[in-house]
Amino acid sequence: MKETHWLNWLIRTATTWGDIHSVVEETGVDSLDASHRELIKYALDLNRLIVMIDSENFDVNLVKDKKEKLEILQQFAIRKYEEEERLIEKNNLPGLEKQKTEHFRILKNIDDAIKDFSDGKIKELRVFEGAFLETVIYHIKGSDRQTFRLENWKESILNSASWRDLTDCTREMGMPELDQEHRDILDRILKVDKIIEQYGGKALEEPGKGVVAEYFDSLGKLVKSHFSNEESFISTFDTVGLGAVKKERLLYITNLEKNRSNALSGVTKISPELKYNLVFQWIAHINTVDYGKLRKELWWEKILINATHMKDISFLIKKTGLAEVDEAFGKALAASFELNRFFGEVAEKDGALITNLMVEKQFEELIDSVKELFDIEEKFMTGNGLEGIESHMVSHRKILDGITRYRVDFHQDRIAISAKMKVHILGALINHLDDEDIQMFNSLGDR
Ligand SMILES: [Fe+2]
Ligand SMILES: [Fe+2]
Ligand SMILES: [Fe+2]
Repeated sequence: MKETHWLNWLIRTATTWGDIHSVVEETGVDSLDASHRELIKYALDLNRLIVMIDSENFDVNLVKDKKEKLEILQQFAIRKYEEEERLIEKNNLPGLEKQKTEHFRILKNIDDAIKDFSDGKIKELRVFEGAFLETVIYHIKGSDRQTFRLENWKESILNSASWRDLTDCTREMGMPELDQEHRDILDRILKVDKIIEQYGGKALEEPGKGVVAEYFDSLGKLVKSHFSNEESFISTFDTVGLGAVKKERLLYITNLEKNRSNALSGVTKISPELKYNLVFQWIAHINTVDYGKLRKELWWEKILINATHMKDISFLIKKTGLAEVDEAFGKALAASFELNRFFGEVAEKDGALITNLMVEKQFEELIDSVKELFDIEEKFMTGNGLEGIESHMVSHRKILDGITRYRVDFHQDRIAISAKMKVHILGALINHLDDEDIQMFNSLGDR
């Protein structure tokens, strides 16, 4: 009960993602968790505006702005819930009807709010916002967590032939190399299909025994080398203590060995159930063990702070697969590094002739390169009629506004170039690439 009180208080008073993220539960499905974060950010954005509308300096433009924001929220929510329902249907996950009912109610709330707003009932919005956030957060906590539990993906796991069939329920760490190893090992595990096809349902004899032993041995080798790569990543970037990690890894290896001897001795039948168990255990390694220790937010700021050149972060940069976009993205990152160089040099070189003018010129270059990147993207999105262009463009505008604000503040002597600024700019760009660009441009491949 006490916990509910706390939760409700937090929901009613939150104005930033930082205030509230600790109570927004995760479903374990990356795309869903990202869209929940987005949805809630839109709602919080509205919250901040309402405060201004309520204050003395009431401005008609704010009202217009607010209506626009409500409509963006609506558009985003409609798309988000459609996607969610598609995901449930595609993977035959439980609870579709309940989900649909609750989604419908959430969407109706938004629709009612827009109607109220159009009728001039501005004050009603405050009620809407508290209620909206509450419903969304409780929906995630209840139905979404129920529907998307890893245990519910059994059918998809049994039907899968490649890691591509399981991307929806497999988390990513944000480290392209390690993520790729996760996929490769998943593919290796799925080779069990061939063994099941050949030796399933019979008592295992030679040469079947040899094949099964060889399967487990080569899998074990791959897994061990993956674990040692993860450990060296952890020690290089000093992300978490190694002790606990090693223990968890050891447990996985022990389990795999148990699977091996059980399969060889006939205790475990060579059957789809074996496939399910092996895949489930691997995804659990990724989604819980690795996610707890290796997820991006645990290490990536540290890497950005220490980075001085593109090469320091290039292993982190994903590719959209569109050469033009990837190239423009690289240029934008390089320009933010260039800007930061002034920070180090001004500080170190005596009487270095780095003038404000030079810094401002570099700001211009950065802004130009980011604009160019976004132009290329937007032209491409429009040209291909991709879904979600509007909210994607809002994100672009936010990033550009952020950088422009830095430039203005620098010009007015309110801010100095610093490593923090670099982290913000690089972070905004890379996060956008990871969360929105990759999703948007990868959807091209699905069609
Ligand atoms: Fe849902
Ligand atoms: Fe891993
Ligand atoms: Fe973008």
